[in-house]
Amino acid sequence: MEFNKDKKIVFSGVQPSGMLTIGNYLGAIKNWKTLEENYNCIYCVVNEHAITVRQDPAELRKRTYETLAIFIASGLDPEKNLFFVQSHVPAHAELAWVLNCYTMFGELSRMTQFKDKSAKHSDNINAGLFTYPVLMAADILLYNASLVPVGMDQKQHIEITRDIAKRFNEAYSETFTIPEPYFMESGTKICSLTDPTKKMSKSDENENSRISLMDSRDDIIRKFKRAVTDSGTEVKFEEGKDGINNLMNIYSCLTGKTIKEIEKEFEGKGYGEFKLAVGEACADSLSGLQAEFNRLMADKSYLENVMKNGSDYANYLANKMMSKVYRKLGFLQIK
Ligand code: TRP
Repeated sequence: MEFNKDKKIVFSGVQPSGMLTIGNYLGAIKNWKTLEENYNCIYCVVNEHAITVRQDPAELRKRTYETLAIFIASGLDPEKNLFFVQSHVPAHAELAWVLNCYTMFGELSRMTQFKDKSAKHSDNINAGLFTYPVLMAADILLYNASLVPVGMDQKQHIEITRDIAKRFNEAYSETFTIPEPYFMESGTKICSLTDPTKKMSKSDENENSRISLMDSRDDIIRKFKRAVTDSGTEVKFEEGKDGINNLMNIYSCLTGKTIKEIEKEFEGKGYGEFKLAVGEACADSLSGLQAEFNRLMADKSYLENVMKNGSDYANYLANKMMSKVYRKLGFLQIK
């Protein structure tokens, strides 16, 4: 693996904290394929972020393989994209420590994700949860990433990353590239099937709120049938009809049809028929991904090989940056 110097760097991270959902897939991973040719893309399995909430060790280990397998099963080419596991590159934790000293208590206290997560895990408001954005800044800044494809919910994290990078650059001269969030046009937000005002989440307690990428055909169809919709009857995209809008949006992502085309297709037909069509389209389009995923999960040595190659190159890139940072800081480096 070698990056092309003329192309910009893209970095994104996915936590191995649960089977990914169609929200992660349609809203993010599926669209990353379009970046492959024009950017040097880095996708990291961020297991260090995952332990800011309690994880079962065996489960975390399994999810680490699974997250990588999903990247590859989604069609991302391991020869063209750099995949690695965060804990295989110690520089993430090292740079995070340095950046902690350039991040203010006050600005971390204002992060909405910290406030939300500490409300949700009130028995475990640990320091890692508080400094989570600093580790994320380290992920991005280590590789001079220009673009960070993320959902809207991560916007504040990119903003703080920019602030930290600027602060460091101002103190020590140009060191880090200032990254920008990259909200992909085709990756609209996929919402919960049981509460369409909320984002679909892989950690929601209610299984019926999400379609996991590995759900069976029957489960997928059943969950869409039971998806919350309003009391209307017409399949029309309208302000305030969050449930039906979400299903139309999902159907559009799955089939490539526009909202207008979907309205036409289901003119005079009820919600029931539409929900069944969404379920079937979803099951159909996931079946290839599922087969490929199962094949990859049965070949751990292949996945480990991808991780190993990825972390070799990532360590090389990251260590170059660490050396620059340590030099600027005045940390003595002995060879
Ligand atoms: N915080 C991100 C999320 O939960 C995951 C993440 C960690 C990330 N490090 C990153 C995303 C760096 C983009 C870039 O979705």
